[in-house]
Amino acid sequence: MAENNQNAAAGKAPAKPKPAAPGAAKPAAPGAAKPAAGAAKPAAPGAAKPAASAGGGVYKPPVDRPDSNPYKDSKQSALASWFQERFYVMIPVIDYLKKKEVPQHRLSFWYYFGGLTLFFFIIQVVTGLLLLQYYKPTGAEAFTSFVFIQKEVPFGWLIRQVHAWSANLMIGMAFIHMFSTFFMKSYRKPRELMWVSGFVLLVLSLGFGFTGYLLPWNELAFFATQVGTEVPKVMPGGALLVDILRGGKDVSPETLTRMFSLHVVLLPGLLLLMLSAHLMLVQVLGTSSPIGYKEAGLIKGYEKFFPTFLAKDAIGWLIGFGLLVYLAVMFPWEIGVQADPLGSAPVGIKPEWYFWAQFQLLKDFTFEGGELLAIVLFTVGAILWILVPFLDRQASREQRSPIFTILGLLVIAFLVINTYRVYAEYSQL
Ligand code: HEM
Repeated sequence: MAENNQNAAAGKAPAKPKPAAPGAAKPAAPGAAKPAAGAAKPAAPGAAKPAASAGGGVYKPPVDRPDSNPYKDSKQSALASWFQERFYVMIPVIDYLKKKEVPQHRLSFWYYFGGLTLFFFIIQVVTGLLLLQYYKPTGAEAFTSFVFIQKEVPFGWLIRQVHAWSANLMIGMAFIHMFSTFFMKSYRKPRELMWVSGFVLLVLSLGFGFTGYLLPWNELAFFATQVGTEVPKVMPGGALLVDILRGGKDVSPETLTRMFSLHVVLLPGLLLLMLSAHLMLVQVLGTSSPIGYKEAGLIKGYEKFFPTFLAKDAIGWLIGFGLLVYLAVMFPWEIGVQADPLGSAPVGIKPEWYFWAQFQLLKDFTFEGGELLAIVLFTVGAILWILVPFLDRQASREQRSPIFTILGLLVIAFLVINTYRVYAEYSQL
């Protein structure tokens, strides 16, 4: 794989001048007095210095680092030099990152969606932390604290709307990113683990959506969580899972505490771990190009990831940010009315749009054992989907695999049609 070789080469040696060997003797300053003939020779470079001179001089511990900043003569800011002198062990790593190149071809546009997903995730972390300053995760206070954030806290409404919209955009971008890497067969050898870690990231993102939905503690979220957490009941051992998810037999303030802790502690921790692995693999293995593009001369060239591709990524982020603020201001999400566990469910209870395809399948399979069958189908489908890099042997041999392309189109068709069916049905209610 050409792009691997490039990166492997990148790791070999920094192109910049090498730092002086640790402990190398400094050249004498011009004009310094030469040692008198017969005087003791200076210790060999690297030899331990005497602890302190007999005259009571100050003890200087041996310092195991280059004597001078190898970049001191290069054109860079004093701040960069300051950091480089202190974090010099990072210099080969930074040089390595600078070597990463992104292939340019007619499908390069799709490379921006991974970065966009990352951007919306960062927005989630920042706005989530701000919301945490006022949100109170108890059955008695959750809804009122939401109203307080929306109505009283300066710019609280904006932060809440941006958090809600960015969650949807992040999941939307993750889906686009997943399908674009699927159709470009970017999962093929040696990028299998990029695909696997990416899929886990998507599942965790969906988990964020599910657990976050209940936090406003409004009527719609309450009953949607009631329906959503009911689903595993039909599986063997599912009742126990439902009890664990809900913290009891029904959705209650206990459930809110569980969803809250999952949303702000467990899921962020897991997502950060998985994201680190995903992004590290992206750096180490480099960006792939579609099968056969190199041989057919369809690669127009390579651009440096740092700074060229990153600068273009930043333009995408800026556009994403503009869209996000526009949606947050023009199409605010409602707060609804406070959840009443004793009240009856309003009409039109449905989950978030990214669960609609599964939701529709459950609604379609109304026959005896249908729900269980729908769950089994989805689970098997998800397992096969995560195993795609290992099943698509042709792509691993750098050969086109049209069967997988057709399968991907069928999966998209299923998701889009079912999602649309829920939309069409519920928009009339
Ligand atoms: C939170 C979710 C995710 C984030 C933040 C994320 C981030 C990224 C970034 C920044 C890149 C490098 C730029 C690019 O090629 O787009 C990348 C590459 C990649 N991602 Fe993701 N990703 C996520 C989810 C996924 C999912 C759901 C999949 C598939 C199941 C996936 C599979 C891949 C693959 C195969 C590559 C390598 C692309 C190539 O080499 O051409 N990622 N990801």
